[in-house]
Amino acid sequence: MDNIGLFDELNVRTCGEGDLDKVLDLESIVLAKLERPDLLRRNTEEMWRTCLQSPHVCLVAWNGDVLVALAVLYVPKDGDTEALAPLLQSVDPEGHKSANFKICLVHPKWRGHHLQVKLGNLLNNEAHQRGIDLLCATASPHNIASIRSLQQLGYRADHTVQKYGFERTVFFYFN
Ligand SMILES: CC(C)(COP(=O)(O)OP(=O)(O)OC[C@H]1O[C@@H](n2cnc3c(N)ncnc32)[C@H](O)[C@@H]1OP(=O)(O)O)[C@@H](O)C(=O)NCCC(=O)NCCS
Repeated sequence: MDNIGLFDELNVRTCGEGDLDKVLDLESIVLAKLERPDLLRRNTEEMWRTCLQSPHVCLVAWNGDVLVALAVLYVPKDGDTEALAPLLQSVDPEGHKSANFKICLVHPKWRGHHLQVKLGNLLNNEAHQRGIDLLCATASPHNIASIRSLQQLGYRADHTVQKYGFERTVFFYFN
């Protein structure tokens, strides 16, 4: 994959387990600068290892050797408790192939350029190629940047639940 439009200085590619340390570093930088602690939960290293392996897709944007943003498409297996589609109240997921737009992290210095929307659009294309027609995501009701980004990607709010110990709105998008 090449750059993403406006940002010639960013290279976007899929990443794998070899990038785990850089991914964990970005997560720590993002968590340290959160506006509120309940916006994002730290993932376990095991979950990151899972996300960095097939069938999941982790897209990363690099500026030189600095990882500035990432976005994960999580493709649940049958019965996977991480699947969000079964939680939907306004959509019957039966007959759809679903996946989660699990996480997006943007380095605080690189915010304000709609990188969640840009990476999200690339993930939508990737999902489409895999026959995934229903995408789900969660966001804290206080996470305005993420909610605006999800809305710009075409996601709609379904309902709000307690998840990961925090309040989370579940969103969906027909891809
Ligand atoms: C959520 C996140 C990925 C978005 O980063 P980004 O793509 O750079 O988003 P932007 O800064 O371009 O903001 C997107 C929109 O939200 C708006 N916005 C951003 N922060 C805002 C705030 N605190 N209050 C109101 N609006 C805000 C921007 O103005 C922009 O609106 P626009 O489209 O009308 O111009 C980034 O903030 C982040 O990494 N947050 C911490 C991790 C996280 O919460 N991830 C999402 C859940 S997994």
